[in-house]
Amino acid sequence: MQTHQYDVVIVGAGGAGMRAALESSGKVRTAVISKLYPTRSHTGAAQGGMCAALANVEEDNWEWHTFDTVKGGDYLVDQDAAEIMAKEAIDAVLDLERMGLPFNRTPEGKIDQRRFGGHTRNHGEAAVRRSCYAADRTGHMILQTLYQNCVKQDVEFFNEFYVLDLITDHDLAAEDVPDGETVNATGVVAYDLATGEIHVFQAKAIIFATGGAGKIFKTTSNAHTLTGDGMALAYRRGLPLEDMEFFQFHPTGLAGLGILLSEAARGEGGILRNGEGERFMERYAPTIKDLAPRDIVARSMANEVREGRGAGPDKDYVLLDLTHLEPAHIDAKLPDITEFARTYLGIEPYTEPVPVYPTAHYAMGGIPTNVGGEVLRDGHNVVRGLYAAGEVACVSVHGSNRLGTNSLLDINVFGKRAGRQAAAYAATAEYRELPENPAAAVISQLDEMRNRPDGERVADVRKALQETMDANAQVFRTGESLNQALSDIRTLQDRYRKVSVQDKGRLFNTDLLEAIELGFLLDIAEVTVIAAINRKESRGGHYREDFPDRDDANYMLHTMAYRRPTAAGDTADGHVEGYFDHVEEFDSYKIVLGSKPVTQTRYEPMERKY
Ligand code: FUM
Repeated sequence: MQTHQYDVVIVGAGGAGMRAALESSGKVRTAVISKLYPTRSHTGAAQGGMCAALANVEEDNWEWHTFDTVKGGDYLVDQDAAEIMAKEAIDAVLDLERMGLPFNRTPEGKIDQRRFGGHTRNHGEAAVRRSCYAADRTGHMILQTLYQNCVKQDVEFFNEFYVLDLITDHDLAAEDVPDGETVNATGVVAYDLATGEIHVFQAKAIIFATGGAGKIFKTTSNAHTLTGDGMALAYRRGLPLEDMEFFQFHPTGLAGLGILLSEAARGEGGILRNGEGERFMERYAPTIKDLAPRDIVARSMANEVREGRGAGPDKDYVLLDLTHLEPAHIDAKLPDITEFARTYLGIEPYTEPVPVYPTAHYAMGGIPTNVGGEVLRDGHNVVRGLYAAGEVACVSVHGSNRLGTNSLLDINVFGKRAGRQAAAYAATAEYRELPENPAAAVISQLDEMRNRPDGERVADVRKALQETMDANAQVFRTGESLNQALSDIRTLQDRYRKVSVQDKGRLFNTDLLEAIELGFLLDIAEVTVIAAINRKESRGGHYREDFPDRDDANYMLHTMAYRRPTAAGDTADGHVEGYFDHVEEFDSYKIVLGSKPVTQTRYEPMERKY
């Protein structure tokens, strides 16, 4: 076992992690630990843009951006956080430009901007051009730019290191810490894929920037590595997860595959049509049509298919029509995604519409933080020295439905804030003592997994999980379907305890790591489904057919889900008695759902129409 000491340790080298590293590494000793080589991080898969009210192409301002974000999130957005994000968006884009990011340009040489769903002028009047972009490779360009700047700034990376435990001085999963008492994060335990060696990193501040958990679903735009590691580690340590029931289904995944076809295709003029050739979004969102927010477009598409108006031999998808656009325009603005259609479906987008269907894309929920990126251990107490940013976090700027291109923005704004705040804290804080044998739990987990007799295969359990999530917790949900998913997950948790790995070795044992990741996926799917069962209303990305209306009187609250030992008391901090009183009890633990108020500043909740 090796031990290391850094002022700040950042877990994850996607956009949020590297943006944080740029803030922290010049000021205090900083290490970035990533299970991937940084430029393979999933930020690289983001395509269409990063929004900011630059008003380079047409009139715009940050207040309209704030409003759109709040309305897009179906009023579950914390409005103070959304305002910060919209205001700081402008500098966030300019920061990247100064770092060398090659944004597309207007003929006058300004950063060009394109339309994206739910971004409007003057509170919904018409779609506005707000998303800054680099063709349909914006995330790729951001990742490369941030990495190059990290290299220039001598940021220390530990690549292909899997963080498998978070160390805190109180185990919140096992003990109740009174309100106001300090809990400190003190380090992480990581596994080096190349050698199988365990590394303990002692740190004054830790930033989780580990991304999302899209692999709980079968049809997803997410990479294989999006297994919810950071969320699951925090949750297993007794920290809450916020708003996990809200998962975004991006409307345009390549049908049958889930590979992302950027919303930029519609921003550039693409049109969705059903099997009858009808531009059906005119019926669902008469003002901004195909550029309505994703939850509305995804549901409309799924509804067309359900009502028999799908396209193709099985009428199980709809069509993204770009055939009216000039090929030169397509080549200049949408080169990658049109190539995906050719490569994976054999479709020529110049002349043929592309089959598309919603694909699991983004977790609106995650580890709760305040606007400085500090992690909350309940409704209001922070964990000292622990930060989170990006998709792993819930700040909450996306509420129940994120607007397209607010994600690349979120990682830059809140990655920067978390990096700054962590560095400032670490500059004066002392190292805190680690427990006597900080890696004991991880070592015994790995040994136990390696030494199990032949049993269940990881791939079989993972496939069954993804299939039940697709079948029962997708765009349309009911109490019955969600309970079916939960019962399947319970069975799969049992099967997981018998999972064995074929590779018993130490070097590059991806078999072993996939087994560990499957445990994270199961925990995240379980809490997602339990939170979805509890929320008996429809809001944003969470649509309950048995409760089709938004219910502000009862559900204008963030869900806070805690995992606790079965023996512990039933309430969690922030729990609203008699309301979010759902306690799901299993053999060794239970999941307690508490709540947290939504921060409302300027905007009264209204009916959401487009
Ligand atoms: O459609 C897209 O290009 C995806 C962007 C996003 O998720 O923000």
